[in-house]
Amino acid sequence: MTAATVPAGESAPGTLVCPEPAERPDLWPWTARRRDDGVLEIGGVALADIAADFATPAFVMDRADLRGRARVWATAMAEEFWDGYGMSGGDAFYAGKAFLCSDVVRTVTEAGMGVDTASLGELTLALRAGAVPSAVGLHGNNKLDAEIETALSAGDGQGIERIFIDSLDEVAQIESIAARLGTTARVMIRVKTGVHAGGNEYVSTGHEDQKFGVGAFDGQLDEVVAAIKASEHLELRGLHSHIGSQIQGTAAFEEAAGIICELAARVSAKTGAPLPEIDLGGGAGIAYSGADPVPTAPIEVVRAIAGAVRSACDRLGIRVPRVSLEPGRSIAGPTTVTLYRVGVIKDAILDDGARRRYVSIDGGMADNIRPALYGATYTAAVANRVSQAPVVRCRVVGKHCESGDVVVWDVDLPEDLGRGDLLAVPATGAYGYSMASNYNMLTKPGVVAVEDGAAGWVVRPQTLEDLLALQG
Ligand code: LLP
Repeated sequence: MTAATVPAGESAPGTLVCPEPAERPDLWPWTARRRDDGVLEIGGVALADIAADFATPAFVMDRADLRGRARVWATAMAEEFWDGYGMSGGDAFYAGKAFLCSDVVRTVTEAGMGVDTASLGELTLALRAGAVPSAVGLHGNNKLDAEIETALSAGDGQGIERIFIDSLDEVAQIESIAARLGTTARVMIRVKTGVHAGGNEYVSTGHEDQKFGVGAFDGQLDEVVAAIKASEHLELRGLHSHIGSQIQGTAAFEEAAGIICELAARVSAKTGAPLPEIDLGGGAGIAYSGADPVPTAPIEVVRAIAGAVRSACDRLGIRVPRVSLEPGRSIAGPTTVTLYRVGVIKDAILDDGARRRYVSIDGGMADNIRPALYGATYTAAVANRVSQAPVVRCRVVGKHCESGDVVVWDVDLPEDLGRGDLLAVPATGAYGYSMASNYNMLTKPGVVAVEDGAAGWVVRPQTLEDLLALQG
């Protein structure tokens, strides 16, 4: 995720050209293709038509792709952890923080996934959109009473599937709310496994010196287990670990799986009862540009985890618990492109005399903060036509009032690119809209879902009136 800052004019022409959907299908929504007339289409809808009939900027989401990815994870978990293989079943929960809207909730749940939430907003939206409480989870390192109350009263008081306890403090908080509501809270404990993985420090969560979870090897876990055991309204379902995000390969997941199984054995020895479940979080990585490797297929990740869980449980002599995962980015990320319209283009003459072309688009860091926040690299392709013109090294920038407002650090775009052309930035479906802001009082773009030749807003764009309505 570090910025590929290639000095202007130094790399060979063509090396940073955005791969076409046919060249790197993993980078693009499943149904993306370049039509004979040169226009990019997704879900059977030309991006030029989206720009004309809807708006730019807009997030364009391939719903069939989302459904397919959700199904792949749900099926892989169900099959690899099928109890006929001596396992105890497996589930996949979509991590709503990547991108949540009602349409996404309906699509992923129809595909067999549960929904994992991390705030009152995410939880309320998921439940209102029809996610069944028995397939919903709630995370958070500092949960509000209102979040716990909503979780425990969901579905006429049956409550959601599990609440992830993140600290000793929370045991008393959840116990007292459950007692007041006259219910039992099913809980799992989030632990720090010590496994350090992920794209960068901000998204790496398994190690000791960060805010999530309880220490596994310093007495904290034992304290939390004892407190849950002593409480009347909490039922301990299992252990949870999320080691980070944008993880490549399977090794870190396997390591965490082995550690969680050992901890599960330790906890059940203490409580005298087997722990029914473990959850190994999310984190599978995706590709953002042609420079990134093709990501590990979900089935490979799930198989590797299944192998690690089985061998750890065999070694420890415990029954394999039910296993769940919470993928977010790998489901939503590649399904979506952001469609922008090109405005001002200017060349900066650098100290060494080289030029860098700055291509300004009608969005920026308010709809994609990831390049500024993490140095994340993206790429871009011209969406409304093909060009035979030679390429020139460009930086795609937004319209905000700071120079860190970069959407694509380096990309080779045709020399004849001009005002009014459309750019599609792929792989913006996860942590794009969900981290969007109103910086500079820009309105948030909407999300258009495309499928089978039809397009429609699933999240309408904000209007200036929406923003002004907040004023006192
Ligand atoms: N489960 C838990 C408990 C999590 O905290 C997360 C992500 C996930 C699952 C989903 O992880 P995924 O499969 O999407 O990697 N804003 C950052 C990513 C932050 C991830 C936070 N937690 C980014 O844009 O890269």
